[in-house]
Amino acid sequence: MNKMKKPRKTLLVGVLGLLLCVSCYYDQEVEEVIPDIPIDEPISFQEDIQPLFVLAGRDCTTCHDGSIANPDLREGNAYDAIVPELVVAGDAASSAFFTGLPGNDHPIEAGFRLTVDEIALIRSWIDRGAEDN
Ligand code: HEC
Repeated sequence: MNKMKKPRKTLLVGVLGLLLCVSCYYDQEVEEVIPDIPIDEPISFQEDIQPLFVLAGRDCTTCHDGSIANPDLREGNAYDAIVPELVVAGDAASSAFFTGLPGNDHPIEAGFRLTVDEIALIRSWIDRGAEDN
């Protein structure tokens, strides 16, 4: 009961502070912190990208299984499901698949995020032409 009588200002400052924190966090992750993968390190869709969709405890295919959520990220289906519909080869920043990743701006709470290094790998793979290699 007492809590309801607390000044609204406190709540307002709290909410604004929280929004500020959240926006800084996203800015950092999306625009500043993502490292570049050195160009002499090859990136393979089959060996480096596909495994990111089925990580233990962070398995995209619990939802992206061809029925619950699109795109279908199961092995054997993922490439055709994301290229070219959600991937602009050579331009990760314009690719809905990249901007929509958990850790970037995934449409719903996935329950986990990809790490900055994992996101960097996907970005560089797209920027280098999104090959099915
Ligand atoms: C808890 C369920 C869930 C998990 C786990 C999940 N997603 Fe999603 N994802 C969704 C839903 C729901 C959508 C909205 C599209 C839809 O409803 O088909 C979505 C949308 C997306 C989109 C945007 C697609 C577009 O059309 O713009 C991307 C990209 C994506 N997910 C990637 C991933 C990746 C990569 C992972 C794992 C690292 C993941 N998601 C884990 C449920 C999930």
